[in-house]
Amino acid sequence: MPFVTEQNLTDIVLERWSHVPDPRLRQIMQALVKHMHAFVREIEPTEAEWFTAIDWLTRTGQISTDKRQEFILASDTLGVSMLVDAINHRFSSKATPTTVTGPFHIHDSPEFADGADMAQGAPGIPCFVHGKVSDIDGRPVGNVMLDVWQTDGEGLYEAQRPELPDVWMRGIYHSKPDGSYLIRTVAPIAYTIPLDGTVGELFHRTDISPYRPAHIHFMIKAPGFHAVTTHLFQKGDDYIETDVVYGVKEPLIVAFEKKPAGSKAPNGEVINEPFYDVRYDFTLQRLAQAAAA
Ligand SMILES: [Fe+2]
Repeated sequence: MPFVTEQNLTDIVLERWSHVPDPRLRQIMQALVKHMHAFVREIEPTEAEWFTAIDWLTRTGQISTDKRQEFILASDTLGVSMLVDAINHRFSSKATPTTVTGPFHIHDSPEFADGADMAQGAPGIPCFVHGKVSDIDGRPVGNVMLDVWQTDGEGLYEAQRPELPDVWMRGIYHSKPDGSYLIRTVAPIAYTIPLDGTVGELFHRTDISPYRPAHIHFMIKAPGFHAVTTHLFQKGDDYIETDVVYGVKEPLIVAFEKKPAGSKAPNGEVINEPFYDVRYDFTLQRLAQAAAA
């Protein structure tokens, strides 16, 4: 084996990683070495810059917890999460498209009955989200689990309100046998990604918008269908074209129709304050229909 030089180092490392028994691990590690070496050769970092990068990654890990995942945020803001998502969900164009989960999903949300209020007194404008879940042939799908999470009307998720002892702005609903669902909540608002961590540190050195347009997150699951993790985005939001995590897809933009006080809500109740009416139909793809169309 030749001893290393700046010129031959990449080839020597690639050769060393060419004997890994697991072919997938071998492929991944060789690609990682190839692209990382190319990156370093392109930017030619000083040793101080290299240490800054290591320090940034170290601190990104150190501030991550079970409720705050700074690495996911880093992946999201570099567009990597949406790329991984796109590669793994090449659905029919008739199916509701997927997006990233993001850093704020919390497992085991409480169950709510159809039409129940998920906001539980949280600040914000009342908002009714309703529609149907069907398959791509238009047949209704009942008993679909809709795991919903969002900000309150002040732009904060549960993880950002550590003073609260309990569940905040999240819940699990199920579609009825006719595929219909009705969620009562408060309208989310546009918000910035958390800027008090290492990702924020990086953003403060750029002029990139840190905002996400107002949205509601959904994780939708039903036996026999591809699971869909997605968002509904408020049409007309100022940040709809510059979402910092690149999550907006055209079919996921939906009108939040503002209704005046005294109007009838989709549940038949007269609401004595202005509210939003959001209608959206989800379309699920059967597991057998895996190929993109
Ligand atoms: Fe979000």
